[in-house]
Amino acid sequence: MRILFIGDIFGKSGRELAVRMIPELRKAYQIDFCVVNGENTTHGRGIGMDSADELLAAGADCITMGNHTWGNYEINSIIEDYPIIRPANFAEGLPGRGSIVLENDKGMKLAVLNLQGRVYMELCDNPFTCAAHEVERLKQETPNILIDFHAEASAEKIALAYYLQGQVSAVIGTHTHVQTADEQILEGGTAYLTDVGMTGPTDGVIGMDRRNVINKFVKCVPVRFEPSKGPATLHGAVIDVDEQTGRATEIIRISGK
Ligand SMILES: [Fe+2]
Ligand SMILES: [Fe+2]
Repeated sequence: MRILFIGDIFGKSGRELAVRMIPELRKAYQIDFCVVNGENTTHGRGIGMDSADELLAAGADCITMGNHTWGNYEINSIIEDYPIIRPANFAEGLPGRGSIVLENDKGMKLAVLNLQGRVYMELCDNPFTCAAHEVERLKQETPNILIDFHAEASAEKIALAYYLQGQVSAVIGTHTHVQTADEQILEGGTAYLTDVGMTGPTDGVIGMDRRNVINKFVKCVPVRFEPSKGPATLHGAVIDVDEQTGRATEIIRISGK
């Protein structure tokens, strides 16, 4: 099976580019499942109903989230019914779920698990013990498991990938918004990429208007961040997985405008 993963879709320009490119990429790469991170889709923070509808209509099969999960109040009205998942290691009892098992019309199954890191991030439960528990459970349904690990520190992402190597098909990092060039297949067939990058305005500071961000760094005072209005770039990865064993055979990085 071939999976397309698209990194943090940011604001209007990122959303418009993703909506245009998802059908093109699905066709060009003969994609079986398309997973997108949508934590910044609506005005840079969270996801509203219209944005989620647009991405799903364009061909996203699942939307993963991150530290901005609750950034748009509309999430509360769609998180239980839409194929949206938020980090599984958030506090118990919160709305939504941390994983989903997708099935396509060819009968293929892909489990997607969303986790959040703890280094330089808001408090959450241990992503390592949560992953071990969730992977054990998801394995009962399918060997094909993709993890979106939403984390800041490269070390935490690399450590989680080695912790799970051979047990999951892919560990793909999100959150830093800058694509790394370390894609590889780890021992046992786990595809890994420290950060898949952002799909959003190219001329801002990780999506936000650069003038406000620079002002904050220079003057060290609170500043209201607004998404940059400039043109966007899409960043993602395409992962090949042997669906009988769940082992990844190839990962390539992609980008496009
Ligand atoms: Fe993000
Ligand atoms: Fe994030």
